[in-house]
Amino acid sequence: MKILLTGARGNLGSQLLSIFKSAGHEVIATEREELDITDEAAVHKFVIEARPDVIVNGAAYNFVDKIEDEAIYPIAYAINALGPKYLADAGLKIDALIVHYSTDYVFAGTQVDGYKEDDATAPISKYGETKVAGEQFVINSGANYLILRLSKIFGPAGTSAVAKPGFVDLMIQLAATKPELKIVDEEVGMPSYTVDIAAETLCLISSNTPSGIYHLVNPGPGVTWYQFAEEIFAIKPSPTPRIPVSASVFPRPAARPSYAMLLNTKLPPLRTRTAALTEYLNVANQS
Ligand SMILES: NC(=O)c1ccc[n+]([C@@H]2O[C@H](COP(=O)([O-])OP(=O)(O)OC[C@H]3O[C@@H](n4cnc5c(N)ncnc54)[C@H](OP(=O)(O)O)[C@@H]3O)[C@@H](O)[C@H]2O)c1
Repeated sequence: MKILLTGARGNLGSQLLSIFKSAGHEVIATEREELDITDEAAVHKFVIEARPDVIVNGAAYNFVDKIEDEAIYPIAYAINALGPKYLADAGLKIDALIVHYSTDYVFAGTQVDGYKEDDATAPISKYGETKVAGEQFVINSGANYLILRLSKIFGPAGTSAVAKPGFVDLMIQLAATKPELKIVDEEVGMPSYTVDIAAETLCLISSNTPSGIYHLVNPGPGVTWYQFAEEIFAIKPSPTPRIPVSASVFPRPAARPSYAMLLNTKLPPLRTRTAALTEYLNVANQS
């Protein structure tokens, strides 16, 4: 299979690149310099010349708080909404499958039991708005598509300067250097492992999965940031005290969904979050 990958040095993109390559696929891995997904003409030219079987869009603008700034919003909209539109429109012309990643932040976060794939979106942040717009453009493009919604992700860091530092690494690092940790005990989600998301992506594109929206998460109970940190320290113990605090202790411009559990009702489950986290902490350079 010939796969065009955008955002190849992001946190998820770097895992996608590694898994596609090790499975022996021909990967055209692009970073922003080679293919800026906000440049419509460049996207069409690149896609039509490269003629990939699959376009996997790992590119995104993920700085949730910055997007609330009206000067930044158009930049984020171009990357999160127009970029996937251009990729899907170009993909349609050559009959390529488009794989695009979305987020639990497309939901309002009021459903305490979680969200199924076809539940109505109702974002409460500008970031969420751009991601809903991206989903809609891909769905309406007429191309074959997989929209894979993710929750908070963890895994090896990407090499992009804009790749966000992962929560797991941050907790380990802060526990080693700070006298105590105050951790937000809100925003219930389902943290998931980029290595598993990348492997499942390959599985889905290799098996003629029907076009649609899918929720890709390592199963486990929904957890707040504090509860997730406790899961980390249960595997990698630390004597540093942890204090659960309200989100209001760290005021941020963007609202976050209070309950954003993504229910996977369509795909076989991935391994559990505990199994994935244990592997990451024990194997992936986390000595
Ligand atoms: N991070 C999370 O916790 C989380 C949670 C839910 C969903 N998601 C979704 O998962 C996906 C992957 O996120 P991630 O955390 O892996 O992202 P990331 O680490 O921030 O990487 C983003 C990548 O996008 C590239 N990029 C940005 N603007 C671009 C442009 N105009 N043209 C081409 N490439 C561009 C960056 O490339 P350069 O290095 O060249 O700038 C970077 O490689 C995204 O769709 C995101 O919305 C993430």
